[in-house]
Amino acid sequence: MAFFKNAICLAILVILIGNSSAQLSTGFYSTSCPNLFSTVKSAVQSAISKEARMGASLLRLFFHDCFVNGCDGSILLDDTSSFTGEKNANPNRNSATGFDVVDNIKSAVENVCPGVVSCADILAITARDSVVTLGGPTWNVKLGRRDSRTASQAAANNGIPPPTSNLNALISRFSALGLSSRDLVALSGLFSLPALLTFILLVFKLLDEGLQRSIRSGKDPGISFCKLTRYIYSFANPAGSHTIGQARCTSFRARIYNETNLDSSFARLRQRNCPRASGSGDNNLAPLDLQTPTNFDNDYFKNLVTQRGLLHSDQQLFSGGSTNSIVSTYANNPNNFQSDFASAMIKMGDISPLTGSNGEIRKNCRRIN
Ligand code: HEM
Ligand SMILES: *[C@@H]1O[C@H](CO)[C@@H](O)[C@H](O)[C@H]1NC(C)=O
Repeated sequence: MAFFKNAICLAILVILIGNSSAQLSTGFYSTSCPNLFSTVKSAVQSAISKEARMGASLLRLFFHDCFVNGCDGSILLDDTSSFTGEKNANPNRNSATGFDVVDNIKSAVENVCPGVVSCADILAITARDSVVTLGGPTWNVKLGRRDSRTASQAAANNGIPPPTSNLNALISRFSALGLSSRDLVALSGLFSLPALLTFILLVFKLLDEGLQRSIRSGKDPGISFCKLTRYIYSFANPAGSHTIGQARCTSFRARIYNETNLDSSFARLRQRNCPRASGSGDNNLAPLDLQTPTNFDNDYFKNLVTQRGLLHSDQQLFSGGSTNSIVSTYANNPNNFQSDFASAMIKMGDISPLTGSNGEIRKNCRRIN
């Protein structure tokens, strides 16, 4: 049985590793733009020192870029006469901010190495530097992405899960992304793609149930392939990013007035600045992490355990389902969370990049060349 499970994990790993674009590398600009990292870092630090929330907003831009046709800088494009972009899609309208900060960072980079570094890569470095500046873990950012020449509002509406999502919806959105690789497409020449996807979803479910069982029974599930796969799996979660930043009343109103799986004094506290009637106070803000919205720590998970998750989708991660034990682990073990988070960010950054002669290096992140 253990052998069987290990074999499944190995198979999934091979697919995921095959997927993780071999073309990206941490040293991609080491000769063409040696001052890239220091330039981005000081621009990020100065933006955050002006406005502490900016770190959260920049991290979220990278997530919203990667979940929509891959990490290709598409979220940064303004609408044009030939396409309607992502900035005004439902998950971003009146919500995503930081575009002017990205413009400043891009200008600083263009000053030191003109025409070399993509906007997609700038977002990836910016996300890392934001997390580090707020006290979170660091990781080596893989680079070499190119910028898209188009953007799609519909893809953004479909690609980014809404805060009303339940656990299954969150998990399947991830599975779809983690496995939509070139290798998989190559494989689909042998199998039909829908059948293959169904099979993989099933394997994920079995794997997860197996893991949960061994965790419950106190046995170490710790076969290394399975552990590795769990790292990859972990970015299905809003994965602790909601330890920083703010949400609008309209994103959590239904939860604080209508749901029962939340702490009642927490509900009353949030109701004070978020009126029941829709249309009033829609844009009033509340911190996603009750205690420390500008520190990248594990309080978010502690809050979930005490039913003080702000969004419906947050509390879904600790509501008796398959992710309960992961939340408990992170609530009790900040180091475990921080290292899983770093691995998950690297995996997220690998989603379908444009490389080689695809796409372009935009001069201005807001428009194609
Ligand atoms: C997977 C399911 C997720 C859902 C349903 C979700 C949903 C949301 C919502 C509704 C908001 C508040 C937006 C508003 O009211 O204006 C928000 C904020 C935020 N999200 Fe997520 N999110 C998810 C995953 C993630 C991930 C994976 C990341 C980062 C890797 C992330 C980073 C953030 C950050 C940093 C903020 C605060 C932004 C700010 O203060 O400007 N989220 N998210
Ligand atoms: C609470 O649920 C009721 C019944 O479904 C609905 O009519 C009402 O609009 C909801 N209230 C909020 C604030 O979402």
